[in-house]
Amino acid sequence: MSGHPESPEGGAGAAPAEGSAGAAADGARSLEGGARPPVVAFRKVAKTYGVGRPNAFTAIKDVTFVVEDLPGKGEFVCILGPSGCGKSTILRLIAGLAPQHPATEGEVLVQGRPVSGPGADRGMVFQDYTSFDHRTVLDNVTFGLECLGMGRRDRDALGREWIRRVGLDVGSDQDKYPHELSGGMRQRVAIARTLILRPKIILMDEPFGALDPHTRMNMQDLLVTLWRDVEATVFFVTHSIEEAVFLGDRVYVLSNSPGTILRELEVEPPDRPSKQMQRESRFQETVYTIRDLISELEENRRAE
Ligand SMILES: Nc1ncnc2c1ncn2[C@@H]1O[C@H](COP(=O)(O)OP(=O)(O)O)[C@@H](O)[C@H]1O
Ligand SMILES: [Mg+2]
Repeated sequence: MSGHPESPEGGAGAAPAEGSAGAAADGARSLEGGARPPVVAFRKVAKTYGVGRPNAFTAIKDVTFVVEDLPGKGEFVCILGPSGCGKSTILRLIAGLAPQHPATEGEVLVQGRPVSGPGADRGMVFQDYTSFDHRTVLDNVTFGLECLGMGRRDRDALGREWIRRVGLDVGSDQDKYPHELSGGMRQRVAIARTLILRPKIILMDEPFGALDPHTRMNMQDLLVTLWRDVEATVFFVTHSIEEAVFLGDRVYVLSNSPGTILRELEVEPPDRPSKQMQRESRFQETVYTIRDLISELEENRRAE
């Protein structure tokens, strides 16, 4: 269900913003009123696949949350839950990608406006390696800029800057094709290709799920560094408690399907390297607390 290389990423990352003028006007109105609309808000959102068919399946229900627009700082929000609980469904509803979008019930708002489809304000990174096989690293990284009509010189210069920023080597890597890269390197390309477009909201669907533990920690550290720079709000989906506790400012704990938010937790920000932080006893304690909490919440829910 994650990205087909030919469409959704281009859609979520590179397409011109839909209704962006309207969004700007709306933003201005609410600024006059003093408050900025939340970056993302879900109001009693449910998604049923195959409505009206015998195999109709409700993946998420009654999902409600608000992520405020903090001036000069985007939050890092982790969505944590077991496989199949609806994490990707939530993320793709924010992205405006079918068939998750539109929701069956409730409202999905981005910057105060109902999501009507993909837009340049939201960029997505998938778990699967979704680079274009027939494009080089540089041409993958600059794909979105090309779609926006930026000339080759400018986009290549910016592309090389981003290749460096994600820790790849311009000289040896820019002309490689995806099949010549390791999994970690491919995800660096995917991150560069998304962040180069400066989305206000970055949606990441288990992007490090297929990486070995060592590479995964390096990628977590890289992501934190980049996130601080770009000041975007990140929604990061994972089923790893450790990953959520390390990366998140805030963690939404989801139940088994149909997924709903069982608990919202604030955790320590990732202000030290992943390897170091994950060794600390305080970190381990938070992980155990969440593990116990999940078991407890699940038991209560079953008993209902
Ligand atoms: N397009 C679809 N049609 C039918 N069922 C789907 C579709 N997409 C997801 N589902 C089902 O909805 C549930 C939640 O899926 P998903 O959001 O992908 O979960 P997660 O990302 O947490 O693993 C799963 O049981 C999955 O099989
Ligand atoms: Mg998923």
